[in-house]
Amino acid sequence: MSESVTITRLGARGDGLTADGLAVAGALPGERIMIEREGGRGRLLAIETPSPDRINPFCPYYEACGGCAVQHLAPDPYAAWKRGIVDQALAQAHIETPLLPLVEAHGAGRRRITLHVRRIEDTARAGLMAARSHALVPIEHCPITVPALHRAPQVAEALAEYLGRGSKPLDVQATATESGLDVDVRGHGPVSDKARAALTRLAGELDLARLALHGDIVVERRPPTLASGEARLMPSPGGFLQATQAGEAALTALVLGAMDKRVKRVADLFAGCGPFSLALARSADVLAVEGDEAALRSLDRAARATTGLRTLTTERRDLFRRPLLPLELDRFDAVVFDPPRAGAQAQARWIAESKVPLVVGISCDPGTFARDAATLIAGGYRLEQVTPVDQFRYSGHVELVGVFRREATPKRRRLR
Ligand SMILES: C[S@@+](CC[C@H](N)C(=O)[O-])C[C@H]1O[C@@H](n2cnc3c(N)ncnc32)[C@H](O)[C@@H]1O
Repeated sequence: MSESVTITRLGARGDGLTADGLAVAGALPGERIMIEREGGRGRLLAIETPSPDRINPFCPYYEACGGCAVQHLAPDPYAAWKRGIVDQALAQAHIETPLLPLVEAHGAGRRRITLHVRRIEDTARAGLMAARSHALVPIEHCPITVPALHRAPQVAEALAEYLGRGSKPLDVQATATESGLDVDVRGHGPVSDKARAALTRLAGELDLARLALHGDIVVERRPPTLASGEARLMPSPGGFLQATQAGEAALTALVLGAMDKRVKRVADLFAGCGPFSLALARSADVLAVEGDEAALRSLDRAARATTGLRTLTTERRDLFRRPLLPLELDRFDAVVFDPPRAGAQAQARWIAESKVPLVVGISCDPGTFARDAATLIAGGYRLEQVTPVDQFRYSGHVELVGVFRREATPKRRRLR
């Protein structure tokens, strides 16, 4: 049964919300709309009074695909909404700090896409998932990716035609590197030596830089490099990578901008393949700590290929289980931490007890960042400022950088 409702605000995931919290995808604040209730949500049937902020989405798959949530919102209210997500998370944790304007960091587009491949009428079709569903939306290309990734669906389909004959659904991750596409395929069964040889030939026909299966390299025809300041990253197959080059550059600039001449020793925690470590090592000795061995190998490889760096040491360590302790932290002039979405709860507790004068937190989850920031503030740090960075344009995801300086002497727990 249809009904008419009014949307009062835009939720953090990009849904329009009514005053009593009913979520309606595709609706904007101020709009009077017709909906049908479906599984606890509202399905938009018609817009009776459109918002003046409504614009036409440019992507032909927008209505069906679950990748983007807010292509229908004009740029200024869009930027206010994104910044507001961070503002709200900080307010919920009772943190008062200057929140700077949103830094636009979409640049030329996303440099990585993960496509799902299914057999439809005995043909491999690559696409993205519909919102809140396992239904595939086949695509020709995704317009929010860099142009070099526009052929990724055809590449994924060609690989799946070879690998997916057994009708297993595949996930194909393609990264646009300076030397061509770096592709990692997941979801298939065991692959024989003969099949690997055939895949090597196929990688040549498709002119891929590198092809891997579940992170295991089948062939590296050219090293897949990515310019990162004066260095070149060489991420491991499927290993973490910032979503856009502009995003990585913006985050790195904010990290470097927080440093000063006194910073001679830095710990880069959750270092990944090393964009911050490599930039920081131009003026300071850096310890890069990371849990993923392949990411650290990539970092070492990139560091060896970069000239003009001071000492850059790597350590593999699970920072959730074995965070750096105050005595280890105290020898650094600055600590940078960039954890996964879960945040750095255990590590933040020990930083809060350290003497480190400067701490820079990077996060893709404002909620866990605010939780960890509250821990640092309780330990005597001042959150000097937070800068939201938009490298996930059109989605509810937002990146941020927070700069903390120690104000009060740490209170230390007694370590046994
Ligand atoms: C958001 S990424 C940041 C990587 C890097 N700073 C960058 O900008 O590319 C988070 C990193 O934390 C690593 N990680 C996740 N859990 C971890 C843990 N428990 N201990 C150490 N590192 C972890 C991941 O492998 C990933 O490289």
